[in-house]
Amino acid sequence: MGVDTVLGDDPRLTVRLVEGPQPQPIVLDSSLRFPTRARLLAHPRGVWIATTPQRDTDRDRALEVRGARLLVLGADEAGRVDLRALLAALHREGIASLMVEGGARVLTSFLQQGLADAVVVTVCPYYLGGPRAPEAPLPQPLRLRETVCQVLGEDVVIWGRLK
Ligand SMILES: NC(=O)c1ccc[n+]([C@@H]2O[C@H](COP(=O)([O-])OP(=O)(O)OC[C@H]3O[C@@H](n4cnc5c(N)ncnc54)[C@H](OP(=O)(O)O)[C@@H]3O)[C@@H](O)[C@H]2O)c1
Repeated sequence: MGVDTVLGDDPRLTVRLVEGPQPQPIVLDSSLRFPTRARLLAHPRGVWIATTPQRDTDRDRALEVRGARLLVLGADEAGRVDLRALLAALHREGIASLMVEGGARVLTSFLQQGLADAVVVTVCPYYLGGPRAPEAPLPQPLRLRETVCQVLGEDVVIWGRLK
């Protein structure tokens, strides 16, 4: 998840409707804008914040004492967290599967760099409008394969492979 979703929505990112393990939350935050009062700091697994050497290091301690773990990684040419370095670091930590829970800028980065294996789109019966979807340009149009559609209550969930 990107830090702008944390700043905008203050999500808890806990699994609440079913029993089972809580996935490890990871936030992309190049310059450490993560708020020290974010609800994610109370996540049962603790939050990992992927950041860069260009971050505001004065904020390291304030976040670490609240249980956050900082993953300091290289930056891409735009100064944001290098996603390939992130995936390599997570693999070393034993994480082999990642669900990228948007928003639009983070989704676009993963799609532009060809780092997603599959896409899950949930269509719900609310029209919100606005630019909250992956942005152009992508290197080429995305074609989903082996798609599966499932109606869940009022929602429609579409699964498809990219590779
Ligand atoms: N399920 C859903 O429908 C869903 C899920 C999540 C979010 N959302 C919505 O999405 C909206 C927020 O989306 P958003 O596009 O504004 O922000 P975002 O994707 O949540 O966060 C983007 C920020 O992440 C940081 N970042 C660090 N490394 C990055 C990288 N390699 N690529 C891209 N970003 C990187 C950047 O900030 P720095 O440069 O400061 O690091 C960037 O501005 C919210 O309104 C939220 O409600 C919806």
